[in-house]
Amino acid sequence: MLQIRNLTKRFGGFHAVNNVSFDVSKGEILGLIGPNGSGKSTTFNMIAGLLPPTSGTIHFEGKPIHGQKAHAICHRGIGRTFQIPRPFNTISLVENVSLAAWFGQNGRQSRESCLRQACETLELVGLPTHPAETTNGMGAAGLKKLELARALASNPKLLLADESLNGLDESEMDQAADMLKRIREERGVTIIWVEHIMGVLMRVVDRVVVLNQGEKIYDGQPLLAQTDPKVVQVYLNDDLEEVDA
Ligand SMILES: Nc1ncnc2c1ncn2[C@@H]1O[C@H](COP(=O)(O)OP(=O)(O)O)[C@@H](O)[C@H]1O
Ligand SMILES: [Mg+2]
Repeated sequence: MLQIRNLTKRFGGFHAVNNVSFDVSKGEILGLIGPNGSGKSTTFNMIAGLLPPTSGTIHFEGKPIHGQKAHAICHRGIGRTFQIPRPFNTISLVENVSLAAWFGQNGRQSRESCLRQACETLELVGLPTHPAETTNGMGAAGLKKLELARALASNPKLLLADESLNGLDESEMDQAADMLKRIREERGVTIIWVEHIMGVLMRVVDRVVVLNQGEKIYDGQPLLAQTDPKVVQVYLNDDLEEVDA
């Protein structure tokens, strides 16, 4: 479904993503992990068209998409969530998600159809559909769910989920992981799931790609990643830095 080859992003002389290649198969949940600053969001931004790659190629369903604009890539069937949610705070939750449904399907759906899809999607992620509900008073978990609902409402074939667990407690993390699994099962959506901690992600993903300092250091089974010397080294260093801090 997705083929990434020699993907590179330089900011000035700094390589945020360096010569990264990997594939994603239809129906797969791929975990893209790595410490903070390892290039995960930059990789997403290139796939989703927010940033053009410095070099390298991205093919989606056999066709090149590298360098295309974000709105065009969305319309081809790639939805993404942002690490920092920025919903419309002055309109309702259902309107937020309706807008995504309308835009994602290129304005071809009626208002009623978008509202219906928004309600279905809000229910799927476990948020209220009442028109009086806004983001007012919503915590991190709610905002992450809304972000997911907005991405899903655009009806993607491939969902890029960026740090969906950040700011959640243990049980909320478990729920979020189950939700991503359900999204794949119920909607047949292929998922790339970015997270800097391995934790709960490891029990849901089919495969993991690990980045460190912009380079791919592992691509394979989640279980084996946890004993891979390079991965262990990176995560050990990361943990030690956190302990120092
Ligand atoms: N627009 C930008 N300009 C300059 N440096 C950037 C920009 N975006 C990201 N970076 C740098 O690229 C590196 C990778 O960032 P990012 O992809 O956000 O990492 P991750 O999502 O894995 O935490 C970091 O060192 C970050 O500071
Ligand atoms: Mg990030």
